[in-house]
This record gives sequence, C-alpha cells and structure tokens, in this order.
Amino acid sequence: MVDRKQELVEEMKTEKHDAIVLSSADEKTVQKNFAASLKASPLHDDEILANLGLYLTSKNLSRILFFYEIYKKIVHNHGIIAEFGVRWGQTLSVLSALRGILEPFNRHRKIVGFDTFEGFRGMSEKDGDACKCKDGSFSVTPDYEEYLDKLLHMQEQLNPMSHLKRYELVKGDAIQTVPEYLRRHPETIISLAIFDFDIYAPTRAALEAVRPHLCKGSILVFDELCDDIFPGETVALMETFGLNNVRVRRLPMTSRISYLEIE
Ligand SMILES: C[S@@+](CC[C@H](N)C(=O)[O-])C[C@H]1O[C@@H](n2cnc3c(N)ncnc32)[C@H](O)[C@@H]1O
Repeated sequence: MVDRKQELVEEMKTEKHDAIVLSSADEKTVQKNFAASLKASPLHDDEILANLGLYLTSKNLSRILFFYEIYKKIVHNHGIIAEFGVRWGQTLSVLSALRGILEPFNRHRKIVGFDTFEGFRGMSEKDGDACKCKDGSFSVTPDYEEYLDKLLHMQEQLNPMSHLKRYELVKGDAIQTVPEYLRRHPETIISLAIFDFDIYAPTRAALEAVRPHLCKGSILVFDELCDDIFPGETVALMETFGLNNVRVRRLPMTSRISYLEIE
C-alpha cells in the first residue's frame, strides 16, 4: 500500500523540478504538446505577444484572473505590493501590467519581489516530506534575476511614468532580506502581500516582518494554505496571526490560492 502511494507520488513528479503536480497523465501529455507548440510557434515575431492567449490554458488563465480580482480590491488602499517567492516572475509581471491598466499614475504602488533565485532555502521538519522537495528545489537558471529585471523594465516602459522605476527584486534568503528591506524602508505600507515561498521558515519570517507594515484593508494572499503537500505555510500563519483571528477566503475560479484581509 505504502509502496503504491510512493509510486503514485513518483509518477506525479514533473520533469522540470522536484515538485508534485497533480495533473493526470493525459493532462500532462496535452500540456507538453501545448508547450511544444509554443516553442515551434509559426507566428510572426511581431505578432507573438498579441497572441499569447493562444497558449493560455484555463488553469493558467484562472491564476491571472485571480490576481486581477485581487488587484481591484486594493486600488483604493495605499501601499506597495510585495511578493514573497518570485521564481520566474510571472506574477510580478502580471501585477505590473495590471498596475498599468488600473492605476497607471500611482507612483507609490511599488512592486517588490523577494527570492533566493536559487530555489528553496530553509526547509525544516515543519514542511513534512510529502512534497519531496529539498533546499535548492524550484531553482531557476543562473543569473535569472537579471533577465527578469529586463522584462520588468520593459513592462514599465510600455506604461505611463516609465521614467520612474517602480519595481525591485531583492535576492537572498528572505529570513534576512525581508527584515533588512523593511529596515531600509521604514516608510513602507503593504497593501498586498503574496506569500508563495511554499515552506515554513521564510514564510514565518516574512509574516513577522511585514506585520507592523500592514493596515486595515491590507490583503495577504497565500498559495498553499490547507495544502497537505506543503503544510509549512499554514503552520507559519497559525503561529503568527492565529487561524482563529483571520477569515481565509477564496475565489471560485482557482483551487489552491486563498487570501485574507486585515480587519
Ligand atoms: C513556488 S515558487 C514561487 C512561484 C511564484 N510566486 C509564481 O507565481 O510563479 C517558490 C519560490 O520561493 C523561493 N524561496 C524558497 N525559500 C526561500 C527563502 N528562504 N528565501 C527566499 N526565497 C525562497 C524559491 O526560490 C522559489 O522561487
């Protein structure tokens, strides 16, 4: 029985990294074919960006729509957006585009992303072993943060006030970098904090560090609450804010991602 469970977990591992993806074998085949079709796209170079929707699946689109709904909730709240766990940076880029659409002249809505850009750091027993990850899982390619920096710069160039840089990438272990950033920027108010480190130690450190910088109405998004593969994120929230004190909400279009509002 245990062996079969282990076999199933092995079958669910993706080829890219160690994480478990709960797609069926058939779904994985179609996803692979989609990716191959994107790489072999016959579209003209100057039409690719305008036609990226060709390759958006319902699952991937739902995540973008989630952030659209969340962004609308903060447009009347002052403060920056911080993402804890950036990886390839799609969420940062989407948020930058949404800022260009929803509040192009809000120069205070800085978007800040924290990541080692070298994968997980600080896995502990509170993360269990279901995820089959280790320190270094979810790493990106060398110097990826430089590539992402260029993309975020281009996003800003296509929107108003492009002479002002309104994003920042903070590289390193969040246990140190988040408190350091907030010491350097005591003026920070956080209107939206997105927790996506997946694991306990940096999530707990970031939750503790941001708490004095939240206001009523600030929104905290979590990618792995109540998730049996990554239990550490829930434990970090339980130990800092206490689950009894918060209302954890979700939107019907996405399964894993949830949010709460400071009341
Ligand atoms: C699931 S990925 C984030 C995905 C991203 N939010 C997105 O929407 O595509 C988790 C990220 O957390 C980062 N991470 C894990 N432990 C960290 C730590 N101690 N300090 C900084 N980043 C960490 C990893 O490097 C990884 O990129």
